Amino acid sequence: MIITENTLFCGDCLQIMRQIKDQSVDMIFADPPYFMQLNTPLYRPDTTRVYTVDDTWDKFGNFGHYDRFTLQWLSEAKRLLKPTGTLWVIGSYHNVFRLGYWLQTLGFWILNDVIWHKTNPMPNFKGTRFSNAHETLIWCAKEKGARYTFNYETLKTFNDDLQMRSDWHIPICNGKERLKNKDGCRVHSTQKPLALLRRIISASTNAGDLILDPFFGTGTSGAAAKELGRRFIGIEKETDYILPACERISHLTPLPNIQETITEQKPIPRISFGMLLENNYVKPGDILTDKKHHHHARVLADGSVQINRLKLSIHKMAARCQNSLSESANGWIYWHVMKNGTLCPLDELRCRLREKLFPEKETDSFFVENTDELP
Ligand SMILES: C[S@@+](CC[C@H](N)C(=O)[O-])C[C@H]1O[C@@H](n2cnc3c(N)ncnc32)[C@H](O)[C@@H]1O
Repeated sequence: MIITENTLFCGDCLQIMRQIKDQSVDMIFADPPYFMQLNTPLYRPDTTRVYTVDDTWDKFGNFGHYDRFTLQWLSEAKRLLKPTGTLWVIGSYHNVFRLGYWLQTLGFWILNDVIWHKTNPMPNFKGTRFSNAHETLIWCAKEKGARYTFNYETLKTFNDDLQMRSDWHIPICNGKERLKNKDGCRVHSTQKPLALLRRIISASTNAGDLILDPFFGTGTSGAAAKELGRRFIGIEKETDYILPACERISHLTPLPNIQETITEQKPIPRISFGMLLENNYVKPGDILTDKKHHHHARVLADGSVQINRLKLSIHKMAARCQNSLSESANGWIYWHVMKNGTLCPLDELRCRLREKLFPEKETDSFFVENTDELP
């Protein structure tokens, strides 16, 4: 089957992909099931239920089943890609390592892995692990040495004339963008943000290109494709998502100017107190004090501070010292440390570290041949 126009199929992607002509798509974006293996419901401390991915489409018998499925759809993806085409696949720690293994086994050539850093992640409610604040995208060419589309200049312009990096700071899909049903519940548990798909599509396709998404869900890839003047084929097996995806896309009109519409505010990189310790701006044992020297707190190796037998974060300790009604205050401004005979606010050290770790003007390594010479 040859597909030229925007088309949405309801059915199993393996069966439908098999019917599409070889080497007919320019780019594939795939957001496959994660196989999260969540068995029990998750609750917040206030006992409200947390939205998780417990959908039947995410369930597989075991890793063997998941691997077989992955191998099958990736093999079809490889057949359908034009020689100059690229594939993007997104996953979490549950599945991304398996995806990477099968991509390389099938001869795809990995160009980058991109970290989608969620600026507003869900907390780890149980406090038993780190808050899971990112997903990984793998971007690959069909094979080693293949030519492929990369709109380097477009992305650089988008990024205030700095080379686009592989860490993308984009919020999870929320607010008006999140599709809701008539009861106000989310239509889909894993709707991706449009900003993410706009960036992927503007990076690796040209106007008029054909994009395939075998796990269409609410059609985020189709929506971004239509906005940016690309064509798409979507495949989704759950009928419940088809109508919301169609409605969403039909209401959109292509954007008049891509550059105007994909700008997002440049986030300020976050520096934690622990990072000041890791970078020796403050050392375990140092004494922090407020401007008037009323309180003195000793820095501990785990990033907390201690006064008498009380051990807290810099923010909670600042609140205590100021008899604040709230649990936490701004420890960056409150606490100071002696540096070369003068009292220096932690906030100043934080700014210095940020400038060091995330310099405003970065060396354009695209043109640098010997990177060993860089500081
Ligand atoms: C992670 S979600 C994709 C979400 C989508 N990117 C969005 O922004 O809404 C995976 C989707 O793949 C669909 N799916 C799972 N297995 C499938 C299969 N064999 N064929 C087609 N769709 C499938 C699920 O129903 C689910 O909607």
